[in-house]
Amino acid sequence: MMANSRGLMALFLPMLFLYFVLGTGRAGVMPRSSERADATTIPPPPLPPPAIGRFNVSDSSTGVRCILVHMGVQFKIQYTSKDGDDLMADFQLSPYADDSGSCMDGQGLANILLQWPLSDEGPNYQFTLSFKKDTVAQEFHLNDIVLNYNLTEGDFPNANETNMIKTIEEHGIQDTFSAPLGKSYKCRTEQTIQIGNVATINFVGVQLQPFEVQGDEFAEPNVCAEDGVTTPAPTTKPPPPLPPPQVGHFNVTDPNTGDMCILASLGLQFKIQYDSRDGDEDMADFQLSPRAEVGGECDNGQGEASILMRWPVGADGNAPYTLALVFTKARNIFSLNGLVFNYNLTQDDFPDANETDSQKTITMNDLKDQFSAPVGQSYKCQAEQTLQDGTVATFNFVGVQLQPFEVKGNTFGSPRVCAEDFTTTPRPPGPSTTAYEPLPIPGDWKVTNSSGKVCMRVKASIQFKVKYYKTDNTMEQTDLTVPPHINATGTCAGVTGNSASLVLSWDNLYTVTIKFSKNIGTDSTSFKLNNIQVEYTVNEDGFPECRYCGTAGRASNLTVDAYHGKVGRALTCTTPVVIPVDTNVTMKIAELEAQPFGIGQGGQFGETDQCPQDGTPGGGGGNGGTVALAVCLTLFCVIALGVTCYFYRKKRSEYQKF
Ligand SMILES: *[C@@H]1O[C@H](CO)[C@@H](O)[C@H](O)[C@H]1NC(C)=O
Ligand SMILES: *[C@@H]1O[C@H](CO)[C@@H](O)[C@H](O)[C@H]1NC(C)=O
Ligand SMILES: *[C@@H]1O[C@H](CO)[C@@H](O)[C@H](O)[C@H]1NC(C)=O
Ligand SMILES: *[C@@H]1O[C@H](CO)[C@@H](O)[C@H](O)[C@H]1NC(C)=O
Ligand SMILES: *[C@@H]1O[C@H](CO)[C@@H](O)[C@H](O)[C@H]1NC(C)=O
Ligand SMILES: *[C@@H]1O[C@H](CO)[C@@H](O)[C@H](O)[C@H]1NC(C)=O
Ligand SMILES: *[C@@H]1O[C@H](CO)[C@@H](O)[C@H](O)[C@H]1NC(C)=O
Ligand SMILES: *[C@@H]1O[C@H](CO)[C@@H](O)[C@H](O)[C@H]1NC(C)=O
Ligand SMILES: *[C@@H]1O[C@H](CO)[C@@H](O)[C@H](O)[C@H]1NC(C)=O
Ligand SMILES: *[C@@H]1O[C@H](CO)[C@@H](O)[C@H](O)[C@H]1NC(C)=O
Repeated sequence: MMANSRGLMALFLPMLFLYFVLGTGRAGVMPRSSERADATTIPPPPLPPPAIGRFNVSDSSTGVRCILVHMGVQFKIQYTSKDGDDLMADFQLSPYADDSGSCMDGQGLANILLQWPLSDEGPNYQFTLSFKKDTVAQEFHLNDIVLNYNLTEGDFPNANETNMIKTIEEHGIQDTFSAPLGKSYKCRTEQTIQIGNVATINFVGVQLQPFEVQGDEFAEPNVCAEDGVTTPAPTTKPPPPLPPPQVGHFNVTDPNTGDMCILASLGLQFKIQYDSRDGDEDMADFQLSPRAEVGGECDNGQGEASILMRWPVGADGNAPYTLALVFTKARNIFSLNGLVFNYNLTQDDFPDANETDSQKTITMNDLKDQFSAPVGQSYKCQAEQTLQDGTVATFNFVGVQLQPFEVKGNTFGSPRVCAEDFTTTPRPPGPSTTAYEPLPIPGDWKVTNSSGKVCMRVKASIQFKVKYYKTDNTMEQTDLTVPPHINATGTCAGVTGNSASLVLSWDNLYTVTIKFSKNIGTDSTSFKLNNIQVEYTVNEDGFPECRYCGTAGRASNLTVDAYHGKVGRALTCTTPVVIPVDTNVTMKIAELEAQPFGIGQGGQFGETDQCPQDGTPGGGGGNGGTVALAVCLTLFCVIALGVTCYFYRKKRSEYQKF
């Protein structure tokens, strides 16, 4: 009898789960405005508090970060309806807004410009904050605020002047977001700026630093008075900060072979906003248990694999938290494609929650290029990696190593190390070996022609070694990496030309030029990489203990013969290729995907050829990544069944022991 009702539950729960996923599948990533069904009759439900976005501005010439801003912003803007009524629009700063700005303009102001949403028609909102540096008082403050907004039907329903651009602004602001130079300003409490009787702008979770930024981190915060750090009652409110999440080791075993097919080491901190009984927004802050129960599904033959973790498992076999990570592979690269987190508002982690024990789901689909590495290798990142659902949840991953496909011998394959670990890991002392450092994430470089259209695109992970003299006159070899996030310049072939070049420059110290040419004479329908030039300035950072620091070096190979492809098609080549440039410099290129000639409108890669080095391993059709939601949803159905059954079976066998 007992077993029967459990069996029914095992079938029923996945249906519920599926219903949740289908029902809420896109809500997490959809713009709020589209949820408003009928603004004229039912007032829209109040918005959840704005999600905190993380923005920054870098110096355009040096690439050095000069402004850091974390904040969530709620705008309430009055406008006139077609009937002449005053209505109130209520919208939020997108945490995914595009950030740009200037470190210091002609007036001594540092500006950050946030634009959203990002679409082909251009942004509907442009929000600028300008900060003034007061060198006499040795402090900074917010000086100007400008909002341009488009009266779109979505956020300004029934507006008289639909699709007109409006501006509200306030200049010469004093005493707002102010802190001593060299510190950051921080305020958890909501701060309001009122502009005339038209606009109310509420800032939450603010931390910002517009001057004297060192690296990527905020300086010591100057906390606003409202946050009340001075009130001497620390016994009740501020809980001690949690230690960093403990890294757990999880794995999924293939039921057919008994071998492990997914390996995952990770620590994970959850921060989830919820409503408390007294009407406040609170933040739950808890961690993935390293002892979570693990389930999942090996590569299902369609390039998808998933791992699930449930914790803490109670005496009744239920657990309030279930996390599913779904991986896909395409073109020999895997990545985390989806994340589903089911959670109950437990008293322990969600104290004073208004709704206790009700179940919630956070779904993130179509996460592109997260945690990605070549199939057969593992993805590794010690540095914290953050995923946000854009509404209530922030997931901070630490100490990650993952391999969802082609695990051999129950151990991780060679790691592909994330870019963050590169910049933070100091170069190990002593002579470098002939091995290259682990590969960085590939850059995605586009070259535009005179009409502003993308005319060539190259994705690749590029490293090179340079020999140089140390102060003790010994020869040393240094490992350098082309940073993936820099912009490319270059020239395309045009209709009649035969060669196209990609130019990558960074830090005012390095320039790498890679040229492709059509095979003139013999076969003008094919191309190859035929020319590499490297220019560098010997400097202390890249060439430790250099004897001739400050001198320029140059290497070129004008007779490279690599990466043979077809004009008008893309070429992919995951396998690393090492190319001697001259006696002092060698280059290593991996995970290449390139279309140097005849790329389609908008810079999308065309049909793809694979280089012979990659061989022909199975799996990974050409359309990965784009199948998105449909795949995810059917997949979740499958895993939900698989997993519930897995847990169910496990439970029952435990019962049978007694
Ligand atoms: C709506 O806009 C039109 C044109 O700008 C203007 O003439 C009219 O007075 C406006 N109506 C209201 C109700 O404000
Ligand atoms: C305002 O937004 C609408 C809808 O996206 C767009 O068609 C229109 O061009 C925008 N108006 C301006 C002035 O950009
Ligand atoms: C700066 O912004 C870029 C994207 O706008 C983001 O990728 C990067 O992580 C940010 N850096 C910091 C330190 O916040
Ligand atoms: C795999 O998981 C099991 C328990 O789920 C654990 O005992 C074992 O140590 C794990 N193995 C590895 C290599 O992580
Ligand atoms: C708590 O939840 C109930 C029922 O959902 C709702 O009516 C009430 O307004 C909520 N209270 C607060 C303070 O959010
Ligand atoms: C989670 O919430 C659901 C819905 O309220 C409830 O049925 C279930 O028992 C709860 N589970 C746990 C483990 O608390
Ligand atoms: C720029 O590139 C686009 C797309 O490849 C092409 O259609 C266009 O003719 C090019 N324009 C020039 C001036 O070469
Ligand atoms: C790269 O180009 C984009 C688009 O033109 C621009 O917004 C961005 O600031 C550039 N990044 C750097 C580091 O120059
Ligand atoms: C140039 O590169 C090719 C590989 O494509 C290599 O065979 C050749 O030796 C290189 N030339 C020099 C001078 O290093
Ligand atoms: C290689 O480097 C050494 C030392 O910097 C220099 O003397 C030599 O000319 C370089 N060789 C080439 C081919 O550039």
